[in-house]
Amino acid sequence: MKWVIQHIKQLVNTRTNSIVVRGAELSQLPIIDHAFLVIENGIIQAYGSMHELTKEHTSGAEWIDAAGASVLPCWCDSHTHLVFAASREEEFVHKINGLSYAEIAAKGGGILNSAQKIALASEDELYEQAMARLHHLMKLGTGAIEIKSGYGLNTANELKMLRVIKRIKETAPIPVKSSFLGAHTYPLDFKENHEGYIKQIIEEMLPVIAQENLADYIDVFCEDGFFSVTETKRICEAGIGYGLKPKIHANQLHASGGVELGVQIGAVSVDHLETMNDSAIQALSKSTTIGTMLPTAAFFLRMPYPPARELIQANAALAIASDYNPGSSPSGNMNFVVALSCIQMKMLPEEAINAATINGAFAMELDREVGSITVGKRANIIFTQPIPSLAYLPYSFGTNLIDKVMINGQFI
Ligand code: NIG
Ligand code: FE
Repeated sequence: MKWVIQHIKQLVNTRTNSIVVRGAELSQLPIIDHAFLVIENGIIQAYGSMHELTKEHTSGAEWIDAAGASVLPCWCDSHTHLVFAASREEEFVHKINGLSYAEIAAKGGGILNSAQKIALASEDELYEQAMARLHHLMKLGTGAIEIKSGYGLNTANELKMLRVIKRIKETAPIPVKSSFLGAHTYPLDFKENHEGYIKQIIEEMLPVIAQENLADYIDVFCEDGFFSVTETKRICEAGIGYGLKPKIHANQLHASGGVELGVQIGAVSVDHLETMNDSAIQALSKSTTIGTMLPTAAFFLRMPYPPARELIQANAALAIASDYNPGSSPSGNMNFVVALSCIQMKMLPEEAINAATINGAFAMELDREVGSITVGKRANIIFTQPIPSLAYLPYSFGTNLIDKVMINGQFI
């Protein structure tokens, strides 16, 4: 099937080079005004200004009139915990009443609460719930996603989660990447026996994950009270031994060295970054490791935001993602992530859009497939309502300005 989309007000992020966008370049968003786009069999075939449209472009094609919509590549959400069994709004109320994230975790809430619920859910139930969430997110413009395990916390339930993610990967119309986050927290039985749980991860979980090809990445929550830098390193290196590249939860609550470790071991990304110091900023500035900021988690937990401006100034490669999970970011709406990045982290709209599209794609190693509007990439595309300018998107936060979403060349 071939489509020619005409009368696009602005075709946004027509980036062709395959280098992660960093520093001052982050504010450069290639745009074609008054544009057309040709899609064949779900893949972008051609694009340009309306006056460059030729017979060759249009022959055998059906027409779509964009009627003045702005057209963007779909959001690439490189950090989610999309598979979970139950919401946790009771903890949300505890937080309103004054308890901290750490206090709730210490009471057996938080991640352990989600682990209890996962243990009771079947693979089918988890799959159905996660697919419903995924379809909702696709309608909000998400066109590629990473999903983590980490609410299993024992071999059987971590494998259950990863099998659910694998099934999502096989059946979802968008690219999906899977991260093994067995090291999300110590289960209660292993609170005083870290060695025992780390052994379970390395000796029981990882061999099966590798054999059944259940994950692309290994993730660890590197944080005071969770996994130390030494423990994180050991677990990541074991994962690397099985072909899984690291993506680390780093510097969320404390500057505990997770970012520096991630850079040192060649992590694809280090994620969160609410609590950065000079050493962590310097480490990222010289590295190909992507710093993924999760502003909705900082928003929901009432934490300071990652220092986006300092990181851009330091030339770090940055992405933004939703961290969709029932505890610290119960929303996967990337439109709000983009808006919050502009409102609270003072990113320019162009910077936030690059961070949520092409750099998000890099943070999932999907940069050849998605993340910009260029020939050969998937036609995973957002059509906005008529908007006066691109800055209007983050400016009018909370208003759904997404008119239509196309996935693999088909409107969903
Ligand atoms: O990315 N930081 C650790 N993990 C999640 C929160 C998980 C939860 O509370 O369920 C996060 O914010
Ligand atoms: Fe997370």
